Amino acid sequence: MMIFMSKKIKYDLVLKNGSVVLPEGIKTIDIGVINESIRDIGNLSGSDTYDFIDCSGLHVLPGVIDSQVHFREPGLENKENLESGMLAAAAGGVTAVFEMPNTNPLTITPETIEDKLKRASRVAWTDYAFYLGGTGRTGPNLGGWENAPGICGIKIFMGASTGDLLAASDEEVASVLSNGKRVVAVHAEDQYIMEANMKTILKDNHDVSLHCKWRSPESCLSATKRVVMIAKKFNRRVHVLHITTSEEMDFLRKHKDTASVELLANHLTLHAPECYEKLGTLAQQNPPIREKHHQDALWKALNDGTVDILASDHAPHTLEEKAEIYPKSPSGTPGVQTLVPVMLNHVNEGRLTLERLVELWSYGPERIHGLVNKGRIKEGYNADFTIVDLNKENTITNAQQKSKTGWTPFDGVKVKGWPIMTIIRGNVVMREDEMLEPIGKPVLFKETIN
Ligand code: DOR
Repeated sequence: MMIFMSKKIKYDLVLKNGSVVLPEGIKTIDIGVINESIRDIGNLSGSDTYDFIDCSGLHVLPGVIDSQVHFREPGLENKENLESGMLAAAAGGVTAVFEMPNTNPLTITPETIEDKLKRASRVAWTDYAFYLGGTGRTGPNLGGWENAPGICGIKIFMGASTGDLLAASDEEVASVLSNGKRVVAVHAEDQYIMEANMKTILKDNHDVSLHCKWRSPESCLSATKRVVMIAKKFNRRVHVLHITTSEEMDFLRKHKDTASVELLANHLTLHAPECYEKLGTLAQQNPPIREKHHQDALWKALNDGTVDILASDHAPHTLEEKAEIYPKSPSGTPGVQTLVPVMLNHVNEGRLTLERLVELWSYGPERIHGLVNKGRIKEGYNADFTIVDLNKENTITNAQQKSKTGWTPFDGVKVKGWPIMTIIRGNVVMREDEMLEPIGKPVLFKETIN
């Protein structure tokens, strides 16, 4: 794509000579930014610019969107807050986050969404949007205000996890799906099956490796099937989050017309029983990390197109909380800062291509959530870039983590591939581990009423 430039153009920023991941493939090319947007892509040598970055030897990716994070504010700020969560995200190469509603109070009313948006705007290291919690109670009211700015969709928990948000019954799920038209994202574990398993499998046991037995593959499959069938009834699509089992992938592969699918980096990287032997409750999350044959099925689904989105499900709890005796220990692990290096390491190990990875964490959120001019490197789009060095080897450590909790399940793990720069709407926010300026804003959605 050759650019014929008018002599008058002066760019705010030019990224020179990077290996740029474009929708049509990877090209060594320049990108010119004006007014926070991508103005030109092409050979811009000799052009006038206020600033430039030499990206030779580096890959320039569309900004990474982590579409599932828990930043705990308000109410659980001993674990994280919006500022520290977004700081960790930007430090790890993430340019936008979608945050979950299981805070305290729950994000289930216009007032609680407004409050979160106000809090986020104070010091935002990334762009951001918030999920609204879907319950039997909020369902009938959604039509009126689900389209307020800053809302990325509605989240339902069919199985209890951290916090009080629960829509366990078909009736409650139906009450959410019968209203509105935004993305409905679902935590699909069947509360009733898990309650029964607690009595028969977990009993009085304190062995964390039982986590993936009582929160069973059957409970996940049951909830996933139920929500897909309810969605069909209302002619709606659903976005099924963090799939962990081979059986669900077989089912979802046949229902792509109704369901989009999310995977987590942890489920692709850690597996049972080794993760529980090595990490104990630090590997405890919902739905659980499972055995290798399930993980193999997740990789297969990732590479055959069944999966639409990859996220971290950053769900921080303090080390003191995690040290409680299982099952009192809370479920969830931090991950927003390690998402990019952990996944680039998988690219270097040949498990997926860089282009597929970009589809999963940038084009996927753009398509599923209907983002406005965000999620790809294209003229007119937000100038969001994650610049990475695919050859940089580094060891992930607890000390690097900006999350308030200060730990990662990948402490001591050596990876190849590292984020070098985080650029949000043309502003350099992280440069070689140095944090510069928080300039985050709410993400815009096509369905939003402004
Ligand atoms: O392990 C988890 N932790 N899974 C969830 O769905 C919620 C999360 C949390 O908020 O701690």
